[in-house]
Amino acid sequence: MLKISSIMLCLFLLFPITGCSMKQYVAPGDESSHGFTHMSTPIRNTSKSSGQHGNPIQVVNNPDSIPVLVNKENKLPDGYQPKDLVNPKIPFVFGGELTSKRKMRAPAAAAIEKLFAAAKRQGISLLGVSAYRSYDTQKVLFNYYTKKDGYKAALAYSALPGTSEHETGLAIDVTGGNGECAAEDCFARTKEAKWLQKHAADYGFIIRYPKGKETITGYQYEPWHLRYVGKTIAQKIMKSGITLEEYYHAIPVNK
Ligand code: DAL
Ligand code: ZN
Repeated sequence: MLKISSIMLCLFLLFPITGCSMKQYVAPGDESSHGFTHMSTPIRNTSKSSGQHGNPIQVVNNPDSIPVLVNKENKLPDGYQPKDLVNPKIPFVFGGELTSKRKMRAPAAAAIEKLFAAAKRQGISLLGVSAYRSYDTQKVLFNYYTKKDGYKAALAYSALPGTSEHETGLAIDVTGGNGECAAEDCFARTKEAKWLQKHAADYGFIIRYPKGKETITGYQYEPWHLRYVGKTIAQKIMKSGITLEEYYHAIPVNK
């Protein structure tokens, strides 16, 4: 019964959010610096409390900024909700036209529509898996993973509520048109993932959690998690093979 309930939860609640991925590996990191001069910082320190690795937790002071840094140590202000959420006109793996899980902030939605259209023209078919999540949705999700795999394991692939990029409306998980490998490791080997690695930046997106950067981002490799930062920054980041943390010269999340 318990097993059936969790399968039902996965299919009807969590799959539309994440594809019910259960990733746990953490690869060795690369903490090399890439020499960018420090950009105007997106963060301010408003808390004396420490993150899970002993680094200070800060509250971002510009949550509406397109290239905002949100991670394990830079959380969104309490009650933050993006104001310009819209439904991008792209196909998703799940039905339900009215769900907020399709939504993205207007500039990110326009950009993902362009990215999907360009991919299609080049014979690459994509589907959305999970875009905007409210704080409460992220909380349900994180609690589900914690119950399933334990708190520590969950932290390697799921963000604590208040620290997920999905709460900004600027992130979207995608998969290939056949819907297989949605938020699964096998997505990395697909032609869709390879196309995204090469072309996402042209539409303002970065692969936010790259392979080999786990100790910097704090998360396992997620080739499906696209984050809109705008074209100029996206191209700098993807061309240099760095992370958003390195772009801002922020503190590595996992020291
Ligand atoms: N899977 C990413 C880290 C999130 O939960 O936002
Ligand atoms: Zn994601």
